[in-house]
Amino acid sequence: MNIIVTDDYEKMSRAAADVISTLVSEKPDCVLGLATGSTPIGLYAELVKDCAAGKISFADVDTYNLDEYRGLPGDHVQSYRYFMNDNLFDHVDIDKARTHVPDGACADAEAACTAYEEAIDAAGGVDLQLLGLGHNGHIGFNEPCEEFPKTTHCVQLTESTINANSRLFDSIDEVPREAYTMGIGTIMKAREILVVANGEGKADIVKRAFFGPVTPEVPASVLQFHPNVTVIVDAEAGSKLDL
Ligand code: F6R
Repeated sequence: MNIIVTDDYEKMSRAAADVISTLVSEKPDCVLGLATGSTPIGLYAELVKDCAAGKISFADVDTYNLDEYRGLPGDHVQSYRYFMNDNLFDHVDIDKARTHVPDGACADAEAACTAYEEAIDAAGGVDLQLLGLGHNGHIGFNEPCEEFPKTTHCVQLTESTINANSRLFDSIDEVPREAYTMGIGTIMKAREILVVANGEGKADIVKRAFFGPVTPEVPASVLQFHPNVTVIVDAEAGSKLDL
């Protein structure tokens, strides 16, 4: 595991964008696994700049996002599809038909999950999976539990997640109760993994996830078993590490 601590959020974003830009330059038809959340917003902005400057092209890239709310159509402002369009896809030369987010509008949960796993396999698997880190160690919507979920599946959101997310909706009743997420097995199949985390609030979980015991109670801890992981954190998130 390669752990990089940068001075601040801007440098974390640039360092993470460099990892992705390098891959896209070396393998223009690579398959990227992407994440939403506040952490990667800066790195997506850096990728937009790299593309505008002609350093990279996304024309032949395929993307698969980690997760999506169940029941939200892609044009809903809180859907992860909307987030990806808004932060990256609308601003680079990517073919939208090659960008994939689990289908939140699909009524048949099992069909949506199976189709997503099959699509990733058919694309040849993910070359690089980008991950943010939840305060409790979740990755995607894989929350602490008793055993690592393997494949893409539908999860019931916990009351605390529903409450936390309600700030982004007009009322708590509008917050979806379920979501689709890649499983831990799906994530672990990626050939390379890039984790980003910033801010003081992530310092404890960065230490627990990457230096504590591997347990499904801290889902990200499983990444210690992956052979090709880079973790890039800012100084605050890295402040409890003894490197
Ligand atoms: C997002 C995702 C989540 C976030 C995590 C951290 O697609 O899968 O696991 O990566 O909740 O979120 P932020 O970056 O907002 O702290």
